[in-house]
Amino acid sequence: MRNVTVLIACLFTASVSAAESHGEYIARISDCVACHTAEGGATMAGGKKFPTPVGDIYSTNITPDKTHGIGNYSYDDFEKAVRQGIAKDGHPLYPAMPYPSYSKLSDADVQALYSYFMHDVKPSAEPNKENAIPWLISARWPLHIWNWLFTDAPTAAFEDNNADDTAARVKRGAYLVEGPGHCGSCHTPRGMAMNEKAYTNAAAEYLSGAMIDGWYAPSLRGTGMSEQELKSLLLTGKSKHAAVSGSMSEVVSQSTQYLTDEDATAIAQYLLSLKSAKTEPARTAGAMTSWSNSPEAGKVTYNRYCSTCHGLEGKGTDDNAPSLIHNPLVMVDDPTPLFRVIAHGAETPTTRGNVSFKMPAYGGLLSDSEMRDVINYVRKSWGEGNGEVSQEDLSGIKKASH
Ligand code: HEC
Ligand code: HEC
Ligand code: HEC
Repeated sequence: MRNVTVLIACLFTASVSAAESHGEYIARISDCVACHTAEGGATMAGGKKFPTPVGDIYSTNITPDKTHGIGNYSYDDFEKAVRQGIAKDGHPLYPAMPYPSYSKLSDADVQALYSYFMHDVKPSAEPNKENAIPWLISARWPLHIWNWLFTDAPTAAFEDNNADDTAARVKRGAYLVEGPGHCGSCHTPRGMAMNEKAYTNAAAEYLSGAMIDGWYAPSLRGTGMSEQELKSLLLTGKSKHAAVSGSMSEVVSQSTQYLTDEDATAIAQYLLSLKSAKTEPARTAGAMTSWSNSPEAGKVTYNRYCSTCHGLEGKGTDDNAPSLIHNPLVMVDDPTPLFRVIAHGAETPTTRGNVSFKMPAYGGLLSDSEMRDVINYVRKSWGEGNGEVSQEDLSGIKKASH
C-alpha cells in the first residue's frame, strides 16, 4: 500500500513539474532571458540596453518581485504586455519587445509562461532604468499608431507537437518561427518606422535577410541547407555549411539548443517550405569589373593564416570550421560582418554536449592592407563576384565599430 502511495505521489510530482516545464520551455524558445537580463545581472531582472534611432531604452525587470518586477501582474496584465505590447498602467511598450511576433502565441502557451514567471523565476529587487529618449518622442502615444499600422492580427496557433504528417509539421514550424521564436525580428528587413516588413510567410520579404547591429542575418528562404544541417545549426550552432556567430550565437545558446527534436524538425521543414525569393542583397554596380588591387593579392595571407582550418579551396573542415563557399557572410554586399569575424574572431556557441570551436582574432596581426586583401580574396573567390572593398571602406567600418 505504501509503495502505491509513493508511486502515486511520484506520478503527481512528475505531472506537476511537466506542466511547469512547459512554461519554461516556451520561455526558452521565446528567448525572454536574452533581452531581459543585463550582462552580469540577475536573470530576467532587466536593464539591458537597446539603442534605437531615437535614444536608448532598457528592458524591464520581469521577475515576480512585487515592487520592481511584475509580481503584481494578473494573468490579463501579463497577456496584454506579451501579446499586445501594453504595460499594466496602460502605456504602450516600445517594439524592441517583440510583441508583434508574440501576438501569435496560443492562450495555452501564454498561460504556461505566466505560471512559469510567477512561480519559478527568482524574484529580484532590481529597480528599472529610466529610458533615455528625448521628452517629445518619449510621449508614448505614437506607439498606439505604430501598433495599429504594423501589428498583425493573431493567426491561429498550432500546438500539436506530435503531428506526424509533413503539412502539420510545417504548420507547427510556422507557429514556432513566427510566434515564440520571433526569428523575423532579425531576419526580416525593416521599413521606415523600424517595423519588420512582414510577420508571416504571406509576404516574400518575410525572413529575406537583414543587417542587424553590424551583423548580417541571412535570408532563411532557400538557405541551401538540408533538414539535417538546419537542425544541427539550431541545436548545436554549427553545420558543415555554416557556423553561427554574432547575435545568432546567443540565440542558439540561450534558446534554440533547447528545442525538442520534433520542434527542431518542424522549424527546419517550415524553413525548407519557404519559396526562395531572389532576395540576396543587391550587388553594387561594378562588382566583377575593374579592381584597383588584384583580388589575388590576399591569397598569400589566406593560405598562411586561414587555410589550415578553412582549406585552400575554402571548403572548411567537417563540422569544425565552416565552408566559406557561398557563405552568407562572404556573399553579403556589406563587408562589415566579414571584417568583424576576421578582426575579432568568433566562437560557435557552447551547447549541451558540444564544445565550441574558435576562430582566432586577426585584428592585431594583419596590417590594414593585408586585411583588405584577404577580405577581397575571400569575397572574389567564394562570394560569387562580390565587389572590391577599398581601404576607405575598411577605415569607415573600423571607425563605426568603435
Ligand atoms: C528582443 C528583446 C526582447 C525579448 C526577446 C523579450 N522582451 Fe520583453 N521587453 C523588452 C523591452 C526592451 C521591454 C521594455 C519596453 C518599454 O519599456 O517600452 C520589454 C517589456 C516587457 C514587459 C513589460 C514589463 C513592464 O515593466 O511593464 C513584459 C511583461 C515583458 N517584456 C515580458 C517578456 C516575456 C514574457 C518575454 C518572452 C516571452 C519577453 N518579454 C521577451 C525586450 C524583449
Ligand atoms: C537576435 C537576432 C536573431 C534572431 C532572433 C534569430 N537569428 Fe538567425 N541569425 C542571426 C544572425 C546575425 C545570423 C548570421 C550568423 C553568422 O553569420 O555567423 C543568423 C544565422 C542563421 C542561420 C544560418 C543561415 C545561413 O545561411 O548560414 C539560420 C538557419 C538561422 N539564423 C535561423 C534562425 C531561426 C530559425 C530563428 C528563430 C528561431 C533565428 N535564426 C533567430 C540573427 C538572429
Ligand atoms: C583555428 C582555425 C581557424 C582559422 C585559422 C581561421 N578560422 Fe575562420 N572560422 C573558424 C571557426 C571554428 C569558425 C566558426 C566560428 C563561428 O562563426 O562561430 C570560423 C568562422 C569564419 C567565418 C564565418 C563563417 C560563418 O559561417 O559564420 C569566416 C568568414 C572566416 N572564418 C574566415 C576566416 C579567414 C579569412 C581566416 C584567416 C584570416 C580564418 N577564418 C582563419 C576557424 C578558423
